Formats: sequence, C-alpha cells, structure tokens
Amino acid sequence: MTLFTPQPIGYVRSSYKDTREIPKGLGAKHDVEGVLEVLPEFGLGLTDIEGFSHLIVIWVFDHSQGFELLGTPPSDNRPHGVFATRSPRRPNPVGLTIVELLSRDGTRLHVRGVDMLDGTPILDIKPYLSSVPAEKLRRGWLAEAEARRNK
Ligand SMILES: C[S@@+](CC[C@H](N)C(=O)[O-])C[C@H]1O[C@@H](n2cnc3c(N)ncnc32)[C@H](O)[C@@H]1O
Repeated sequence: MTLFTPQPIGYVRSSYKDTREIPKGLGAKHDVEGVLEVLPEFGLGLTDIEGFSHLIVIWVFDHSQGFELLGTPPSDNRPHGVFATRSPRRPNPVGLTIVELLSRDGTRLHVRGVDMLDGTPILDIKPYLSSVPAEKLRRGWLAEAEARRNK
C-alpha cells in the first residue's frame, strides 16, 4: 500500500494561542471566528467555494503528542475509546471541524466555529453536505453524559 505524505494546503488563523483557551466539555460553544489561510499555490482550488454555507476542515493536531486508546474526555467522567471521541491524542493526529463560511477574500476564508490553535496546519477543505436525517442520528455515550448532567 502506498500512503501519501501529507502537506499543508494552508494554516488556521485564530485567536487561540493555548489549548486552555478553547471551550471544552458538554455544552461548549464554538462560535469564534477565524481565517483559513490557503497557500497561494492551492488558491485555484477554492474556485466556486463561496456558494457553500459550511465547510469541513481537515487538519493536524500538531501540538499533540502520542495517543491514548482509552481516555476520559472533558465531557464525561467515564473512559471511552479514542475512536468514540474527538480526542486530540489519536494514532493519526487528524482533526475535523465544521465551520460556517462567512466570506472569501482571495485565498483567505473567513469562517465561524474554529476550535483550532492559531497556526494549525490544514490538510484539506471540503463542502459540508449533511445527508443524515436528524432522527437517524445517535449520539452514543455523549447523549448519556448529557442526560446524567441534566438530572
Ligand atoms: C476535542 S478536539 C476536537 C477537534 C475537532 N473538532 C475534531 O473533532 O477533530 C478540540 C481540542 O483540540 C485541541 N487543539 C486545537 N488545535 C490543536 C492543535 N493544533 N494541536 C493540538 N491540539 C489542538 C484543543 O485542546 C481543542 O480544545
């Protein structure tokens, strides 16, 4: 199998300089604005992106070290498998965030909903097209943690 060597297509510009500044846990809101700065050599790839309200951003947890297969996330007091969480400490340190596209200024995409540190490398951007009806979504342990909190 031939794997590719990931290369950043750009970098996140956000006000977050430290992971402690980023809201975590149950009910955390991610409405902070930021900029996805795409490198000029990939600018042509942004053609027609303006028509989409939301984007999927795939990025690297470049400040994270190692991984933990079982860990207790900030949203619960019980351990869960890494693949059942959005933990930064994963075998392949890849993050995924859905952001709202506010405007485009050349190769700079102004977005809302960043949860990444300033300078985070971006691997890819795709339009967000949800096709899962709300009634079909199950939220697993997170729904249980929310129910326990609301008791
Ligand atoms: C729980 S993860 C979720 C990230 C993404 N929405 C996902 O689902 O893959 C978000 C946390 O990642 C951490 N983080 C953000 N940017 C990072 C970076 N560049 N390197 C390492 N950790 C980062 C922060 O602690 C932030 O609270």
